[in-house]
Amino acid sequence: MINERIRRMELSGIRKMFEMADEDTINLGLGQPDFNPPDDVIECYERAMLEGYNGYGSSYGLPTLREEIAKLQSKYRSDISSDNVMVTVGATEALRISIESTLGPGDEVLYPEPGFVLYYPQITLAGAKPISYPVLQSNDFIPSVDKLEELRTSETKAIIVNSPGNPTGGVFTKKAVEEITRWAMDNDILIISDEVYEMMVYENEHVSFLGDYDNVIAINSFSKTFAMTGWRIGFMVTSSDWIKEIGKLHYYTIACPPTPPQHAILYALQDRLDFVEEMTSTFKKRRDVIVSRLNEIDGFDCLIPKGAFYAFPTIDYDLSSDKFALMLLEKGVLATPGNAFGPSGEGHIRFSYANSTENIHRAMDILEELVGELA
Ligand SMILES: Cc1ncc(COP(=O)(O)O)c(C=O)c1O
Repeated sequence: MINERIRRMELSGIRKMFEMADEDTINLGLGQPDFNPPDDVIECYERAMLEGYNGYGSSYGLPTLREEIAKLQSKYRSDISSDNVMVTVGATEALRISIESTLGPGDEVLYPEPGFVLYYPQITLAGAKPISYPVLQSNDFIPSVDKLEELRTSETKAIIVNSPGNPTGGVFTKKAVEEITRWAMDNDILIISDEVYEMMVYENEHVSFLGDYDNVIAINSFSKTFAMTGWRIGFMVTSSDWIKEIGKLHYYTIACPPTPPQHAILYALQDRLDFVEEMTSTFKKRRDVIVSRLNEIDGFDCLIPKGAFYAFPTIDYDLSSDKFALMLLEKGVLATPGNAFGPSGEGHIRFSYANSTENIHRAMDILEELVGELA
């Protein structure tokens, strides 16, 4: 018998669209890089299995991998050590156990809208109350602290932030990170910062929420970084005490993260960061193509995304974004309606540019054709 809590949950809008596409569809709906991890990293995974690393590992993750992650993350906060790091089954599990361990009934949690589809259901699953805050194109998809303050009540316990952002491609400035952190500090609010696109920024450096404030859980992942969404390895960084506490739920949920891919990721972090740079520079070229094509189309207005691999233009037609995306799908292009990311995503469409430049051009030709017919 399935309980009411689960019955009330909706399947993500992204999945629904995805299931309607066929194999000839040009897929600009994907939330994953259209790359393979480097061959030598894959070989390392294979070798780990052949060498016998097939058993349970430490629940917190491979010690050498935790150390390497700590080394890299210490650029944001110098006292980070492996005790501050836990390897998880993707950012998905890291988010889930962080929310479940820190929040509960009666707690209000601010989360971005439009925003990534996991936040709302995961807050609800913990019994806490999701309160959305807007991330608007008019403010470069950066939350306004005044608005956060307006939404804050005595029950506000946490805020989820996401930069670089999905679906918006927005990247927080240093000033924005400092202001949000100051506001959270003043009001004793926990920051859960989803930084999975950390390495995919195009203009300036990524600014992490890891810094002077202790009340922060940074969520991260190798899914996008090394184009290995199916390997299911992510991590979190927070105080060593919280790692131990959250580690209990982690253990009772997944026992330990998969062992062989952690060996390959350790190698990738030490020797193949060049792959991430190359992939990001390819994304940047495609971004420039898709944004200039979109902005040439009547009724479309697209900000230049500063990170991740999504363009999130507004569409000025007398149609819901659902309906528009369906019409586009019927013509052979899969994109995601903005309202799949919450009601305030209405009026936008998300195009992932994790596809070849040639396919991006073909998709934009089809979009132009559709818009011509609508006119
Ligand atoms: C913003 C954001 N956070 C978290 C995730 C989940 O990542 P993972 O594959 O590591 O579970 C995604 C995946 O699309 C994402 O876009």
